[in-house]
Amino acid sequence: KRLVVLVSGSGTNLQALLDAIATEGDEAYGAEIVAVGADREGIEGLARAERAGLPTFVCRVKDFATREEWDAALAAATEAYEPDLIVSAGFMKIVGKEFLARFGGRVVNTHPALLPSFPGAHGVRDALAYGARVTGCTVHFVDDGVDTGPIIAQGVVEIRDEDDESALHERIKEVERRLLVDVVGRLARNGYRIEGRKVVIQ
Ligand code: GRF
Repeated sequence: KRLVVLVSGSGTNLQALLDAIATEGDEAYGAEIVAVGADREGIEGLARAERAGLPTFVCRVKDFATREEWDAALAAATEAYEPDLIVSAGFMKIVGKEFLARFGGRVVNTHPALLPSFPGAHGVRDALAYGARVTGCTVHFVDDGVDTGPIIAQGVVEIRDEDDESALHERIKEVERRLLVDVVGRLARNGYRIEGRKVVIQ
């Protein structure tokens, strides 16, 4: 299966996928990353892709007159690589109607909280501020909401009294990277069905 991975930052989830595929081989893992896309230049995620010899593309919102045009450009840039599955791994923009029209049901996102708790761009900070005792990460399909699509898998992480946002986020990411590698591989190898809010991996 052909994966396009979308990033906005350090790209450690991307790196986890790259390392798993390099270790297992794309046949055994069931997928290869064919391109990496981003919404901004100069991020470590793009450097990781370049080091792996992968094609990259950048679609910056401010380069387009409207959000819809950005969304259509992102969809076209992604489509060019003929992906089977798109993995949003720390991609910090909400994809729109055009993107979902083309790739709906094939876009997987990872979120650093236990959805439906703490959706949005500050899930780690919000769980900490709320005084939650556990949080974690969620791998889910993207629908037309924000962090609202059908959940594929979740991992639980305890919140410690001494945690600050970055310490907690780092501990979440350790679980998240393993969860994402496992889920993407199973989706790619086994195929899946989405039945309402349920995801059935064959
Ligand atoms: C991940 O925890 C992701 O869930 C969140 O931002 C982080 C991105 O990390 N949206 P990286 O860019 O994969 O290192």
